[in-house]
Amino acid sequence: DWKMDSFVETTIQSLREKIGNGKVLCALSGGVDSSVAAVLLSKAVGKQLTCVFVDHGLLRKNEGDEVEAVFGPEGPYELNFIRVNAQQRYYSKLKGVTDPEAKRKIIGEEFIRVFEEEAKKIGSVDFLVQGTIYPDVIESGLGKSAVIKSHHNVGGLPDVVDFKEIVEPLRMLFKDEVRKAGLELGMPEYLVFRQPFPGPGLGVRIVGEVTEEKVRIVQDADYIYREELHKAGVDKDLGQYFAALTNMRSVGVMGDFRTYDYAIALRAVLTSDFMTAESAQIPWEVLAKVTNRIVNEVKGVNRVLYDCTGKPPATIEFE
Ligand code: XMP
Repeated sequence: DWKMDSFVETTIQSLREKIGNGKVLCALSGGVDSSVAAVLLSKAVGKQLTCVFVDHGLLRKNEGDEVEAVFGPEGPYELNFIRVNAQQRYYSKLKGVTDPEAKRKIIGEEFIRVFEEEAKKIGSVDFLVQGTIYPDVIESGLGKSAVIKSHHNVGGLPDVVDFKEIVEPLRMLFKDEVRKAGLELGMPEYLVFRQPFPGPGLGVRIVGEVTEEKVRIVQDADYIYREELHKAGVDKDLGQYFAALTNMRSVGVMGDFRTYDYAIALRAVLTSDFMTAESAQIPWEVLAKVTNRIVNEVKGVNRVLYDCTGKPPATIEFE
C-alpha cells in the first residue's frame, strides 16, 4: 500500500526531527491505536521511548502476557517497557461496588493514579504520546449530548504528567488506515485486527460487583466463545463479540446434584459505527458447541444465554 508506505516513512522521519534526543512517554493499552503509535515511536527513537502498560486485572484471558510478549524485552521492538501489575489494587477498590457509573469512575481514576506514580518514577519527559485518531479529533469537537456512559480513555493523562509537548502521530488517520500502518510496520495480525475493547475492560462485562472469581469465569467463557467463532469462520463479519457475566444465578442439575450457578450471556453484534448495532445471527450449531464447552469447562456456570437485543435499546456492552 503506497499511501501507508509513505505515511510510515515520513512519520518516522518527522518524529525523529521533532523529538531529537528527547524523552518520550506512552500509555500503552494493548489496543490497536496505542500499539501502532508505540511502534511508530519505537522505530523513530528506540530507547528514548518508555511505554507504561497497566494490567488492571480486567483484561481478556492471557492479554497482559500477549502485550508483554510483543512490547516487552523478549519482543522485537526497541523501547523501555514497564508493566504494572495492578490487579489486586483494582479488585480491592472495586470490592462491594455495584453501580455501573461508580465502577467506571473507579477504574478510570485508578488508572490515572497508577500512571501518575509511574510517571513520577520516570521523572520529567519531553513528549507524551497519545493514540488519538481522526474520528476522536472530530468527536471531541462536537457538542456532547446526554452522557450514557462515562468513557474511560487516556485523555486525562496530560494533567498528571510533567511534559513539554503531546505527539499524536495517528491524528490524521481513520481506523482502517491505522491498521494498514500497523501491517506496514510488521506488527502481528492479531494485534492489528483486534476488535474494540473498552477501557474499563471486563469491569463493564461483569454485571454488578467485580470479584477475582467472576473475572476468571468471564475470561474463560469469553476465550471459548472467541475460539469457537474463529474456528467456525463466523468471526470475520462481526463488529464485536464477547461473553458477559450476568449477575443472575439459577438452579441447575449436574449428575444427581443441584447446582446454583451463574448465567453467561453471549453477545455478537453487526455494526458499522458502534452508535447503533444489531444482534448477529450466529449459527445455532456454533452456539450449541460454545454452550456445551462453557458449562463443561467453566466452573461456576450452569446456563448460557444469547443476547438478541440491538442498540438501541440496549448498548453493546452491559454497563
Ligand atoms: P456501548 O456499550 O456504549 O459501546 O454501546 C460502544 C462502543 O464503545 C466501546 N466502549 C468503550 N471504549 N472506553 C472505550 O475506550 C470506554 O469506557 C468504553 N465503553 C464502551 C464498546 O466496547 C463499543 O465498541
